[in-house]
Amino acid sequence: MNILILGSGGREHALAWAVMQNPKCDKLIVAPGNAGIEMIADCARIDIEDGGVVCNFVEENAIDFVIVGPEAPLAAGVADRLREAGVLVFGPSAEAAKLEASKSFTKEICDLAGAPTAGYGHFTDAEAAKSYIREQGAPIVVKADGLAAGKGVIVAMDEQTALEAIDDMFGGAFGGAGAEVVIEEFMEGEEASFFILCDGKTALPIGTAQDHKRVGEGDTGLNTGGMGAYSPAPVLTDEIAQKAMDEIIQPTMEQMAKKGTPYQGVLYAGLMIKDGQPRLVEYNVRFGDPECQVLMMRLGAQAMDLMHAAAEERLHEAQVNWADDHAITVVMAANGYPGSYEKGSVIKGLDTLPEDSKNMVFHAGTTAADGAITATGGRVLNVTARGATLQEARDRAYAMVDQIDWPEGFHRRDIGWRAL
Ligand code: AMP
Ligand code: GLY
Repeated sequence: MNILILGSGGREHALAWAVMQNPKCDKLIVAPGNAGIEMIADCARIDIEDGGVVCNFVEENAIDFVIVGPEAPLAAGVADRLREAGVLVFGPSAEAAKLEASKSFTKEICDLAGAPTAGYGHFTDAEAAKSYIREQGAPIVVKADGLAAGKGVIVAMDEQTALEAIDDMFGGAFGGAGAEVVIEEFMEGEEASFFILCDGKTALPIGTAQDHKRVGEGDTGLNTGGMGAYSPAPVLTDEIAQKAMDEIIQPTMEQMAKKGTPYQGVLYAGLMIKDGQPRLVEYNVRFGDPECQVLMMRLGAQAMDLMHAAAEERLHEAQVNWADDHAITVVMAANGYPGSYEKGSVIKGLDTLPEDSKNMVFHAGTTAADGAITATGGRVLNVTARGATLQEARDRAYAMVDQIDWPEGFHRRDIGWRAL
């Protein structure tokens, strides 16, 4: 099979790494890719949010199967355009991608599905939103309705912060994404991520993970896209996972099918777990980044068979073969991230590191220039390892981190602390 993966982050490097190991993959192209991906596959610089461009590329390169990494092309309808052109694709339609692109859409689906989640109000008017906040009191959570690159959520521990968030959002701080807000009950508990493959009819859990969203050690400081992750998530026991399938995931799938917009692709459910009960925090319509890196490390080549089965609506006959192992990824980011940071610094020491089924450095924001690897993103490398225990995986990952010579970057030393 000739395969095209859309995206350019550590998530897509991990997907490419897994796909390349599968003997069914004859040729792999990643668009646009990065310096790490270029070492294992061809990369093509095309506009991946333009369905017409992607369709033409698929035809010119005789691509048989497209895997969409990030949410933006999905929300832009690229999977729809490919399906209309008769191309096999892994990823939901734009209508189904609303599970991530619109918080109010997801809340309405949860209402219909009876899925446990936070109580909420949905507002298009600042004054009404503020009255609701005064009525409910703090802590309370204010969310811009649309895609805001992970920055549209304010967890307000006091009323004043929540009211200011309303002013910011209606004042255009998040562009169009803030013209509507969802205000939610604050949920207590421990968060975990649950990944489920769906083909419109069947939903197949493929793994759990936890990430570290804050920039600083001890989970302090500003929110980021994720500074590290590990899989499995000990808090998401088999019993709680089954509850989440029965009470949240399956009913959501049924509602999506009933609306005439069945969900196909990976569903990433952010869950809040308290007293053995999972509640939905949010859905994403893609793999988490960096959670995908630890899932791929554990799944290996079968990940491609599973995604292919989802695209061909054959998940009922698919099976996940789990090793009883652990994986961890440590994000190395440019100094200054998640604020402003410099681009172009040189990263040394990568060529001496092992690259095998237990150790991988996935590239997130890198470019190859004059024989050197340079940093061109905020999150730059995902140093990933697997082991029989989380401790073993973690020791292996940090041993690699310590061999990387990059003074312009930083990382957290405590990834996985909660599980250890
Ligand atoms: P989201 O983008 O919806 O995942 O929100 C980002 C983060 O905000 C989540 O990962 C949670 O840590 C936190 N959060 C979102 N909604 C709630 C809620 N209702 N209660 C408590 N924390 C929340
Ligand atoms: N790591 C969080 C996300 O991908 O949304």
